Amino acid sequence: MTRVHIQDLSIRFGTHDVIKGLDLDVHSGEFLVLLGPSGCGKSTLLHTIAGLNPVSGGSIHIGEQDMTRAEPSQRGVGMVFQSYALYPTMTVKENLAFPLKMAKTPKAELEKRVAAAADMLQLTPLLERRPGQLSGGQRQRVAIGRAVVREAKVLLLDEPLSNLDAKLRTDLRRELKLLHSRLGNTMIYVTHDQVEAMTLATRIVVMHQGVIQQIGTPAEVYEKPKNLRVAGFVGSPAINRIEGQVGEGGVFASPAFSLPLPAVLAARPQGEVLTLAIRPENVRVGPSEAYEAEVQLVEPLGNQHVVWLSCSGSTVSAVLPGQPEVQESAKVRFGFDAEKTMWFDAVGDRLPIGD
Ligand SMILES: Nc1ncnc2c1ncn2[C@@H]1O[C@H](COP(=O)(O)OP(=O)(O)O)[C@@H](O)[C@H]1O
Ligand SMILES: [Mg+2]
Repeated sequence: MTRVHIQDLSIRFGTHDVIKGLDLDVHSGEFLVLLGPSGCGKSTLLHTIAGLNPVSGGSIHIGEQDMTRAEPSQRGVGMVFQSYALYPTMTVKENLAFPLKMAKTPKAELEKRVAAAADMLQLTPLLERRPGQLSGGQRQRVAIGRAVVREAKVLLLDEPLSNLDAKLRTDLRRELKLLHSRLGNTMIYVTHDQVEAMTLATRIVVMHQGVIQQIGTPAEVYEKPKNLRVAGFVGSPAINRIEGQVGEGGVFASPAFSLPLPAVLAARPQGEVLTLAIRPENVRVGPSEAYEAEVQLVEPLGNQHVVWLSCSGSTVSAVLPGQPEVQESAKVRFGFDAEKTMWFDAVGDRLPIGD
């Protein structure tokens, strides 16, 4: 079992600090997902763990060993890149076998591992083809297979599913999770896709501009986001936000509506800017609800639908079960339970209200 321990890590390109003073403890055997918008430094961090970028400061331990400046081949990590990086003149089978050949794996063991990886990744019928004769999705499956056959203690994956079509992506996502529970190795997986992060991760690391915003289980980052960035990045449609102020008598006053503040926030100074946030699945629509709005748009999704509401300049989305019952431009009422609301201060940090 292998943990990855990163301390005070800095990575600089020229004068640009991409990662600054980052601490991260990846537990042995966990499926850790680095989640964040494009350009926030996810690939840079992953490549640095693999030994492909020079470290400007801090340390990286893999297992108990200091690997900060070790050669990539000495680190015991397997890497799957966003671009496939296959050998174009080799067949699929030769590509899969290559890392094992390099490691002088006995032939029988090599054949067994290649066959198992090919089977798992639906590559068996393609073993004699070359990369040029494969679709993008098939090439990426070969790249995943090539990292998997090595059975490295730490597997690093950089957006491995982003070039696949939706159906294959969901299938392969499930396979990766099953693979992880079979192998029990440590996986560090980079994605900007919050659904991938939620479904795969034992813990999610939410990053923004090279800084970790929160580390937590999928449930923790969803239900107890540390700040508005995390709250807004996780969940689809995105969490609804209503900006307002603390008004007289412990009331939250916004152009859209006013409501009593939760008890622990009622004594905050008048005029302080707060943001109320509520997940779309916690918004109800019906004649007896508290607030008035106009339906902007309805999006049917088969088993549920999204209603986009316009309320005094604010847009509020509601995810509701079944088929739509309201039409665009209709006047409706909406509401939510006070205990489902989240509250954030003017800099976007969440204010706990009893959790
Ligand atoms: N080799 C490099 N030289 C200079 N800047 C780089 C290099 N690699 C990445 N960057 C910069 O680092 C930042 C983070 O990039 P990256 O790690 O690829 O983000 P992500 O994977 O989260 O999309 C970007 O601003 C990018 O331009
Ligand atoms: Mg990237």
